[in-house]
Order: sequence, then structure tokens, then C-alpha cells
Amino acid sequence: MEETNTKVLEAAKAVLAANDRGSYTVPAGDLYPHQWLWDSCFTAIGLAHLDVDRAKAELTSLIRGQWANGMVPHIIFSDKKRDINQRSQEGWLNPHAPNGLITSGLTQPPLLAEAVVRIGKKLSLPERRSWYRQMYPHILHYHKWLYKDRAKDGLIILLHPYESGLDNSPAWSFELHTKAWPWWLKVLKKLKITAALSLFRRDTRQVPSAQRADNAEGLAAWALIRKLSRKAYDSRAILKSPKLAVADLAFNCIFIRANAHLQTIAKTIGQELPDELLKQMQESEIALEHLWDEQSGQYFSGDALTSHLIMEPTIATLLPLYAGCISAERAQQLVSMLGKRNLFKANWPVPSVPLGSSSFSPIRYWQGPTWVNTNWLIIDGLKRSGFGDEAESLRQKTIDMVAKSGCYEYFNPLNGSPEGANNFSWTAALTIDLIKH
Ligand code: GLC
Repeated sequence: MEETNTKVLEAAKAVLAANDRGSYTVPAGDLYPHQWLWDSCFTAIGLAHLDVDRAKAELTSLIRGQWANGMVPHIIFSDKKRDINQRSQEGWLNPHAPNGLITSGLTQPPLLAEAVVRIGKKLSLPERRSWYRQMYPHILHYHKWLYKDRAKDGLIILLHPYESGLDNSPAWSFELHTKAWPWWLKVLKKLKITAALSLFRRDTRQVPSAQRADNAEGLAAWALIRKLSRKAYDSRAILKSPKLAVADLAFNCIFIRANAHLQTIAKTIGQELPDELLKQMQESEIALEHLWDEQSGQYFSGDALTSHLIMEPTIATLLPLYAGCISAERAQQLVSMLGKRNLFKANWPVPSVPLGSSSFSPIRYWQGPTWVNTNWLIIDGLKRSGFGDEAESLRQKTIDMVAKSGCYEYFNPLNGSPEGANNFSWTAALTIDLIKH
């Protein structure tokens, strides 16, 4: 085992070195040539074990992109390699967008506080305080923005699948199909010409199309971006009559955990968080309960337009373990789902969609494959909820999967085979963290 771990560590370090662009790391050289929000946070968590200054740089370079209103964009574009799809995502029409940098106008799961604290753990107390003092205003501003511009009844509302990080997971596919499917796409589909549109895609030049979102969904996501961009990504204006608005389960779980980290950071540097914010944080924990469906015994994302749950089972149902605010009984219910064959008990766990779900597909992007980042979140949640054995077994299995197949973007949960992009940064970084835990 020692020997395997050493080999995997070396391979993972090489991936991070190859994707290093000086002060930030691209998710995968060819397929994702920019800086992404949650990718950089995951990467910083791994880098903290190798070179703490470089890990800090990963995050300070991420907040270069923070907007004047506090929003942290999901992408900071590198100068090169911007295609049509990327250009339509640029948020510079918004008055809050930074000068001299091109960022997207969307956000992504708020993992910044988690990554800041992980780096903090590697520092002496005086160094940690100074690191926290540097990052605290940015995290505070970001969380306040989420509450100010995006909250409804305690939950954060997302406007586009890309904001969830689990882009085309079944709940989002359902929402796109039912709420934001452009009329012209129906026509193109009828005429059976969506397949020809592959010619315009960059991703399927790198990765087989069976492993990616289908053309029609990609186009619907693009059309929705265009709509948001026409409104200059002004969240409050958009939320007055949104096409689609989702209280995303994964995002909200990560935000609840990030709020707890923000409180730790504030305490360490002797700062008092505003009362209003503390109240909002409490409300978020309570509101998570609104995403629980007693009958199916699962959590779901919520449709903020209809106030109904989107009854499409996905791996997000397990993330309240990571949020850390659910009852012991509820946590036990979630853990039992990990052991059921029609749900999440796969040979190479944890599948992004339950094995028995009609949407399950073992190799298609977020519709079944196992991802190292969601495993990492679940492992962390299991540990903190008192399920040490389950956490340890998933940790070991995740390392074995990467040892067997390499630092790929995702993996087939049935046979562990590698899928998506090779040399993927967060797979490498989080595997380092899992080995050095
Ligand atoms: C895809 C993933 C998203 C990730 C990005 C860069 O869009 O769905 O979560 O941040 O790729 O790796």
C-alpha cells in the first residue's frame, strides 16, 4: 500500500505541475484552459500539502476576479483560447465586474472558506491569523452577496446549471428541458440536425461525445447564458422574472459548511460577524430541511419558481452530511443509502446518480460517473458525522480507483475505468489530500 501511495502521489504531483500556470492551476490543459472557482479551491487543498505559499497563491489569484459587489465568478478567463461559448459567458457588461480581467458572470459552489481553512491548518498561529486577515474580507463580502442577491427563504438560488458545478446532473437537465428549452432547439431537434452541431464543440474534440452532455442540452445551456448575459448578469433584476431558478442542494450544503468556516476564521482573528449575517446563517441550516422529502427518504434540489422539489435523485442527496447540520438520525439514513445496490453501492463508489435511477448512465458527465471531488466531500462529511469506518473505506477505495486508472476527470462506477479528461487537477489534488489526511 505504501508503494502504491507513493506512486500515486508522484503521478498526482506531476499533474499539478503540468497544469500550473504560475499563480493558478487550470483544471485540465486542453479541455479547461482557464481558472475555475471550485477547481482552484480543491486544487489549493492538495497544494497545501506540497507548498503552502503556492496554495495561498491559488486562492489570492482566484479573488483577483471578485466583483465589486462581492460575487466570485466561476471562471477567470485566460487571455488565450476563448471560443464562442466562452465569450458569451463573459460578465464585463455588469458594472461590478473587475477591470483588466475577463470573468464569467456566474458563480460556483462557495468552497473558498473551506480551502482557506485547510491552508490555515498548515500554518503556525501567527501566520494563520495573518492569512485569515487577508482572506476574511473577501469571504465575508462573497457570503453577504449570496444572501443579498440570491437568497430566498434561507436558501441560495442558482440561475444556471454551471453554477451548481454538477452541470448536467439530472435535476438540472430536467429544469433545462421543462423551463428553458428554446423553441428553435425544438425545431432543430425535429429536423434531427442537433447532431451536426458537434462540429462547433471544442469538448468533444478532446473527449468522446458519449461521455459529455448531449448537443441539445449544451445548446440550451448556452441559450440560457445568452439570456443572463443580455441582462448583464444582474441577479436581482433577473430574479424578478427568471426563466429558471433553483435552490440547488449541493450548493446550499457547501454554503452552510462555508458559513461555519467563516465563523471559525472570524473567531481566530477576533472579528465579530454582523448579527444579521449570523441570523441568515441559522436560517439556512433550518431551510435545508425544506429540501427533504419524507416519502422517498431523500433530499432534492428545489424549484424556486414553484416551491416544489425536483424529484430527480442525484449524489447531492448525500451532501447534507458535509453541510454538518443534520440530525444523527438523518445522517444515519443517508449513510444507509451508501450501502444499497440500487442507490449508491457501486463497485467504484460513489456514483453521481443512483445506479437504479432511470437517468443513470455510467460514463456520461454527472449522470452516473464517480467523481473524486464529491467523494472527498462525502468522506469529510462522514468523518465529522461520526462514521469513521465508512469514511475510511471510501477514502481507500477512492485512492485505489485513481491508482488503477489515473488522474482522470471521472470514472465508470461499474468497472472503475477512466472517463473524461486525463490529468485532471482536482482529482490529483484531492487524492494527495486523501493520502496525506
Ligand atoms: C465542468 C464541471 C465543473 C468544473 C469545470 C472545470 O464544467 O462540471 O464542475 O468546475 O468543468 O473543471
